[in-house]
Amino acid sequence: MEIKSASFVTSYAKPGDFPAPALMEIAVAGKSNVGKSSFINGMTRQKKLAKTSQKPGKTRLVNYFLLNGAFYLVDLPGYGFAQVSKAEKERWGEMMEGYLKGSENLRHMFLLMDIRHSPTRDDETMLRYVRILNIPFTVILTKADKVAKSKVPMRVNALMKELVLPGREWLIPFSSETGFGRDRVLARMEEVLSS
Ligand code: GTP
Ligand code: MG
Repeated sequence: MEIKSASFVTSYAKPGDFPAPALMEIAVAGKSNVGKSSFINGMTRQKKLAKTSQKPGKTRLVNYFLLNGAFYLVDLPGYGFAQVSKAEKERWGEMMEGYLKGSENLRHMFLLMDIRHSPTRDDETMLRYVRILNIPFTVILTKADKVAKSKVPMRVNALMKELVLPGREWLIPFSSETGFGRDRVLARMEEVLSS
């Protein structure tokens, strides 16, 4: 498939605001600064669709992007950002839980992790949660341009083992800078949307 159109639809600050079921959703989650918003821009080839930032904690709301008029990519607020208040962390938890438990149209999650690093505790918690809720997922290994191309397969293997995933097809190395991995993500989207 190709992405023919993409537009920002709306943001939600709390679960009660989430929209009534309409179209299929694919969520994008991961720790703060891992490259979620850049992933959305890279996939849609629109540099400024989702706001990115060098400073973590940019995306604080649940943002809905409509793709091909057919499904939503949902940019979730990043976790593991130390410099937020306890109240903000609680709000984050409620929002995430509200979204993940409440969204009837959620078909898949792209769980983003930095290809260079081991999963954090928060990553493991997120993965556990997704598994408990039975949400199908793919791990996207972001910033693949930051490691030598020859090292990419090694990092995929290492993370596959650390996350106890059954096969390499569960992880897709990706770079929003070079477009590396974009075709595989598109193919995965197509699978998800047609199943
Ligand atoms: P929050 O909204 O704070 O949770 O962050 P985010 O996960 O949306 O991250 P964002 O897309 O804003 O990117 C964070 C930083 O990483 C920015 O400086 C991006 O330019 C950079 N970045 C993201 N993806 C890539 C990538 O594939 N390669 C490189 N080299 N840098 C990237
Ligand atoms: Mg963001």
